[in-house]
Amino acid sequence: MIEAARGSLLGIEHLGREEILRILKLARRMNPRTARPLLRGKRVLLLFYEPSTRTRSSFEMAAKSMGAITTLVLSSGSSIEKGESLVDTGYTLRAVGADVIVVRHPNAGAPALMARNLDIPVINAGDGMHEHPTQALLDAYTILRHRKDLKGLHVAIIGDIFHSRVARSAIHLLSQFGAQLTLCGPPEFLPEVAGTLAPGLHITRTLEDAVRGADVIMLLRVQKERLGGTKISLQDYIARYQMTLGRLKLAKKDAIVMHPGPIIRGLELTWEVADCPQSVIVEEVRNGVPVRMAILARALGKAR
Ligand code: NCD
Repeated sequence: MIEAARGSLLGIEHLGREEILRILKLARRMNPRTARPLLRGKRVLLLFYEPSTRTRSSFEMAAKSMGAITTLVLSSGSSIEKGESLVDTGYTLRAVGADVIVVRHPNAGAPALMARNLDIPVINAGDGMHEHPTQALLDAYTILRHRKDLKGLHVAIIGDIFHSRVARSAIHLLSQFGAQLTLCGPPEFLPEVAGTLAPGLHITRTLEDAVRGADVIMLLRVQKERLGGTKISLQDYIARYQMTLGRLKLAKKDAIVMHPGPIIRGLELTWEVADCPQSVIVEEVRNGVPVRMAILARALGKAR
């Protein structure tokens, strides 16, 4: 067993402020339309055990815009269906020539397990309920296009926080930089908190309290089948937690509305909110490309 190869990105929790800032700075210099072929001759393996639209396509765009070759392996239709283990799949992909593996997996810790067994960098594209570090980085990048600093920023995170790797990574990142985070959702969707909350972290019962005065409203996807496990019906969820234009008015005038996607219009947010000028949901997707360019360049030792 070896340490994760240099350039791996397994989570935000242990990344550190300096490294986060370095990636964001590099991302600001990246432009997929005018990129130099920094990764010419490099092979980027995209290994997806779960559905993905944004993460997968933006990694592919990012890699190709810098001249890399990409290969996509989906769990359905591959030997994974025949029972091949994750680590054996890793050995196989290394043997066919992968220089870096980008992996999305339903199990927390799967990218770390792969990284510990391979001598090439592994990038976590979302692992179970654990982390989604590239999403947190593109969200920080997006916020910083609208605000000077993360310190002291009021961020309301609303929806199914407990099951969300996006929320977990965002909380790790934003709290490191001194943002004030307010979590809001049905009790079953909130993290279990033993003792006092970490500094800068708050939980509110009502959406109105969470949104009042916020700079950033981060909505999360709510899976209808998960609502089944709560005491709250779909109608109740919509009545209490859906982001509407009326509720958005409680936030700062120039507050931004974020959502990692896929959005369900009429559930987490109304059609009007999804398309309003304060919504940066499409911008988040767009920013995913330069941020993932920076992450791939870093993984392959081309970050200067
Ligand atoms: C998220 C994911 O898959 O973790 N989507 C994304 O990558 N942008 C969020 C979700 O599916 O709820």
